[in-house]
Amino acid sequence: MAKARVAVFISGRGSNMAALLYAAKAPDCPFEIALVISNNHQAEGLKLAAGEGIATAALPSGMRGFVAAADAVLAEQRIAFIALAGFMRILPPDFVARWEGRMLNIHPSLLPKYKGLETHERALAAGEAVAGCSVHLVTAELDDGKVLGQTEVAILPGDTPESLAARVLIAEHQLYPRTLAAFVAHEASPDFLVAQVRARALALPEADEVLSHGMPCFGIIKGKKFAYVSVDHHGDGKIALLVKISGPEEQAMLIEQDEARYYRPAYFGDGWVGIRLDLGDTDWDAIAGWLERSWLVVAPARLGKLMRVAGEF
Ligand code: GRF
Repeated sequence: MAKARVAVFISGRGSNMAALLYAAKAPDCPFEIALVISNNHQAEGLKLAAGEGIATAALPSGMRGFVAAADAVLAEQRIAFIALAGFMRILPPDFVARWEGRMLNIHPSLLPKYKGLETHERALAAGEAVAGCSVHLVTAELDDGKVLGQTEVAILPGDTPESLAARVLIAEHQLYPRTLAAFVAHEASPDFLVAQVRARALALPEADEVLSHGMPCFGIIKGKKFAYVSVDHHGDGKIALLVKISGPEEQAMLIEQDEARYYRPAYFGDGWVGIRLDLGDTDWDAIAGWLERSWLVVAPARLGKLMRVAGEF
């Protein structure tokens, strides 16, 4: 299976980025660091990443300019996930919304405790016995998204914010690669991918699901099938959505456009196309669009008409 392409956003030292990068060198790591972005041209971590042969981009520090430039380079590098690692700027809500569920952050506290800055100072002042770090999904609210993993770090007698931060950082370097690996592996699992298709297919009018030749298959109730999910069919190693298209010309055009993503599904013929779901950069809105189109091809006139009318509003 292809490794998921991750971009790391940093502002300075970049030691967590380095931990991710070196973890990714293990052959069985499910992600690769494909891009390192910084809002700070001087960020130490940029030199390390460049030295390791990774694409880097030092982008304008003003947020509007940053986001426009980031959008372009993230698309160019076909990035599937973003890992914030010591990125000291708040990203605008529209950017966060576009990456919802695909952008992680590491924070040096046991969230939900001590969000924001000066976490170690506050943990010590509160007389805590343990501190720690958390990896969480990024939402519009600061340090507030679902926690994916945490490590506790004991507070020692005489600890200062600096000594505690240094020890928590060691835990961070262990936690981030492990949590990111588990997250992207889950997102690439057949169960997760089928569930993504299912949610979109069953949202279409009068759609239902059956198993056909062992494949999850979606059709109109008592009617024709409009989508199959092919999971390692005859050991082909692919997880893909099969949908109806207009015919051989469109099939050939799609395959020519992107032969890594589209293919001619064996036994299905020219009226269908296979769309890989396991490349790590699936555009789920586009998948919803393919499902709707395919549904329209097989839907009885009565239903298709309803859908077209609804689309006009
Ligand atoms: C880390 O403590 C991280 O938890 C916090 O900022 C620090 C970044 O350190 N968000 P580095 O740049 O990864 O070395």
